Amino acid sequence: MEKVNRIIFIALLTVAFFGCKSTPTKTIANLKEGIKGETTASAKYSAFAQKAREEGYDTIAKLFDAASKAEAIHAANHTKVLESLGEKMEAFTPSFEVKSTAENLQAAIDGESYESTTMYVNFINDANAEKVTDAVKSFTWALDTEKKHLDFYQKALAALKANNESTLPSAYAVCPVCGNTYDNAAIDPNCAFCQTPKEKFIIVS
Ligand SMILES: [Fe+2]
Ligand SMILES: [Fe+2]
Repeated sequence: MEKVNRIIFIALLTVAFFGCKSTPTKTIANLKEGIKGETTASAKYSAFAQKAREEGYDTIAKLFDAASKAEAIHAANHTKVLESLGEKMEAFTPSFEVKSTAENLQAAIDGESYESTTMYVNFINDANAEKVTDAVKSFTWALDTEKKHLDFYQKALAALKANNESTLPSAYAVCPVCGNTYDNAAIDPNCAFCQTPKEKFIIVS
């Protein structure tokens, strides 16, 4: 009889343990939306960099190239988390428009504003509620980076309008782990978001 009781007890414990682990459906959907957004942003900024070079804005082109690399790192980080949850990203084709560099900067400002003030804020809340700590980390790295991109893009648009592009950073450093993006003249010894040493940063110059 004692053996039967023990078996029932273990069975109840097992149900209690696994029963709590429900699928984080919101976070899975958010990771997929994030991957789509970051992959599209990476391709878009790369095209914007090419357009900036065509228009003679070489310094602004470097910013687009650096941000493109950062967004690709965010997409890769989100993909790792998605796959750790046993899910796969569906194939999709990034879609965006390339206009003048001034208009492209404004489009970049709009995108980064949405991601840093709305999209990732909601994603982080959902991931916290669903207790997916890796997703919280990946979304937070992206949100903190997008805030910096927003600031870089706003300064670049102001410089373009004032015709003083020479005041902008002449090179950027991108953290290969979290995508954090620095003016290369003002980097930290270790990434402020993920502590990766500066020797590993990707330099865009
Ligand atoms: Fe960004
Ligand atoms: Fe980092």
